[in-house]
Amino acid sequence: MKLHFYPYSLARLRLIVLVLLFPILGLASLSAQKRPPGNAPGPVAALSLVLGRPTDRSITLSVMSASEIEASVEYGPAAGPLQKTAPVIARANSPLEIELTALKPATAYQYRLLSRTPGHGEFKPEHSAVFHTQRAPGQTFTFALQGDSHPEREGKMFAPDLYTRTLQNVAADAPDFYLMMGDDFSIERLIQKQTLSPATVDQVYARQRGFVGLVGRTAPLFLVNGNHEQAARSNLDGTPDNCAILAGLARTRFFPLPAPDAFYSGNNEPVEHLGLPRDYFAWTWGDALFVVIDPYWHSAMTVDNEAGKQHGEEKGKSKDGKARDLWGVTLGDTQYRWLTETLTKSRARWKFVFSHHVLGTGRGGIEQAGFYEWGGQDRSGREAFAAKRPGWPLPIHDLFVKSGVTIFFQGHDHIYARQELDGVTYQSCPNPADPTYQAFNREAYRSGDIFPNSGHLRVTVAPESVRVDYIGSRLPADTASTGVANATLIHSYTLPARTPTTPKPLHP
Ligand SMILES: [Fe+2]
Repeated sequence: MKLHFYPYSLARLRLIVLVLLFPILGLASLSAQKRPPGNAPGPVAALSLVLGRPTDRSITLSVMSASEIEASVEYGPAAGPLQKTAPVIARANSPLEIELTALKPATAYQYRLLSRTPGHGEFKPEHSAVFHTQRAPGQTFTFALQGDSHPEREGKMFAPDLYTRTLQNVAADAPDFYLMMGDDFSIERLIQKQTLSPATVDQVYARQRGFVGLVGRTAPLFLVNGNHEQAARSNLDGTPDNCAILAGLARTRFFPLPAPDAFYSGNNEPVEHLGLPRDYFAWTWGDALFVVIDPYWHSAMTVDNEAGKQHGEEKGKSKDGKARDLWGVTLGDTQYRWLTETLTKSRARWKFVFSHHVLGTGRGGIEQAGFYEWGGQDRSGREAFAAKRPGWPLPIHDLFVKSGVTIFFQGHDHIYARQELDGVTYQSCPNPADPTYQAFNREAYRSGDIFPNSGHLRVTVAPESVRVDYIGSRLPADTASTGVANATLIHSYTLPARTPTTPKPLHP
């Protein structure tokens, strides 16, 4: 394998300059901190800032402090006048959203949080960072994403120090936004041990936020729902304290996720006791359409493992040993109609779709793409789509082909795998913090470019091409044994623009 070292980019230099200009808790000092094993809270637990739902005119900053503070945000264009939000009280350990409005499109912004003990003393700058509003068509930009982080699997596929390194690598690239592909907030052990409560679920979300705040302060975060989140329709029982509701409430409280508005489209169906789950949504950025989809909030049948139980159904068996009928796994009629409309009406040159996994369960990429509502066949290879999905014009993969999807990104398998089927790239995302540096589920992939953990993906979107880089992460002690240094480019590929075409209408 040929290794390359990633050169310093203009974006990276820009971030470094801004970091030097404003008082900021330095990333370097964070990396030097040693953390005890177990439930270490993450390097930014004392005060974490997480950006979310960026648009052309606004962005949301979620502030969470270990102590009660009075906070205000000063913000403005990189070389322009600053404006300030009215002071608000952020209660200890409780996320507070502050809207930054009246922004200009396609503009780089700086901001800093000012805080004081409520009612006492001067406001002091705590943190500063940069973000970018929606890019205009023709502008080049980067976004980044991570596969399953699994903080609950410390020692098996998670190391806090390695996660911190990955997130520092991401932050150094100054991406416009960052997607987390699911299995980042497992509540399985709380269910197993019968310790599930609003407080214990909140701890899971607060801990993860302590890590991803390293990126989230400068790159808005988008969450993709995973199976271990258990934010799933099949768990609903009509009560307000079941695991799906508690997970759904924590997701939307700890992270500013988009709901349908003038900028985002998405799920507008509230769930009882929760409100909008904010699980599927789409937006346009530069020349690209971004679409996040989710089977878990829409399948009456359990999609993958049952709450609190290990996998065991991936081979098609339910807990009573009978074969499961995966036609029961679905995006649902409403999400499917929205997905069809979103993909086919968009004139974007690039279209990216994100989901935890093909069908939300199983192993592999294109190996699974021919089955059930994704491909139309049952396991025996019989075409059954028309009978099983009456009123749906096309299986999901065929919809991707016809509407010109560039890349489908998934997590779940804990491996880097790049495949292609009918012109659509299927990209499995590696874990960001697996200290065993394995290629889990390698046997499920029969083709493609395969590389082991750990690291993140950086995607550069330009008018003429899209480039995907797999940036490896390594702890210092593991560089020699794995032959890979931290922040090394492990794999890269470029997709050229296809001739722009007007999307053809699908069959009625
Ligand atoms: Fe996973």
